[in-house]
Amino acid sequence: MHIHRLEKIWIGFGLAMLLIFLLLTGVAAFAMGISPPSSSSHENMHHGKVDPTKLQTTAPFDKPGLKQIGDNEYEAVLIAYAFGYNPDTIDIPHGAKVHFIVTSSDVVHGFEIPGTNVNFMAEPGEVTELTHTFDKAGQFLVLCNEYCGTGHEMMKMTINVK
Ligand code: CUA
Repeated sequence: MHIHRLEKIWIGFGLAMLLIFLLLTGVAAFAMGISPPSSSSHENMHHGKVDPTKLQTTAPFDKPGLKQIGDNEYEAVLIAYAFGYNPDTIDIPHGAKVHFIVTSSDVVHGFEIPGTNVNFMAEPGEVTELTHTFDKAGQFLVLCNEYCGTGHEMMKMTINVK
C-alpha cells in the first residue's frame, strides 16, 4: 500500500511537470504569435487582407485610381499585375499628400519610387498602405523591384507632379 501511494505521488508530480511545461511552451508560442511583424523603415505603413481573385468586386479595388480626400490630399488605389499597374499614370499637384493603397492581383510585385523612400512589396492577398508627400515637382516612375516574370523589366507606372 505504501508503494502504491508513492507511485501516485510521482504520477501526480509528473503530471504537474507536464502541465507546467505545456503552459510555458504555450506562453512562449503566444508571445511569438503576438510579437510585432518584421520591422519596417516605414512607420506609417499599414497592412490588410483582401481576396486577390475578387478585386473587381472588392472596394476600394473595384475602382482603382486617384481620389481627392482633402486639401491637396489624395487616395491612390493601385493594383499591381504582371506586368503593370492599374492605373498606369496618375497626375497630382505639387505638394500633394498621397495615401497609396496597393495590392497585387497575381504574384508578388515591387512598388518603388526612386528618389523617395517609397519602397514596398505589392502582394496578392495583402493590402499595403503608405503615405507620401510629393514636395518636388516632376515626373516620378514607380518600378517593380521584385522579379515577377518575363515582363518584369517593363513593369512601371508614372506619377506626374505638376
Ligand atoms: Cu512585377 Cu517585377
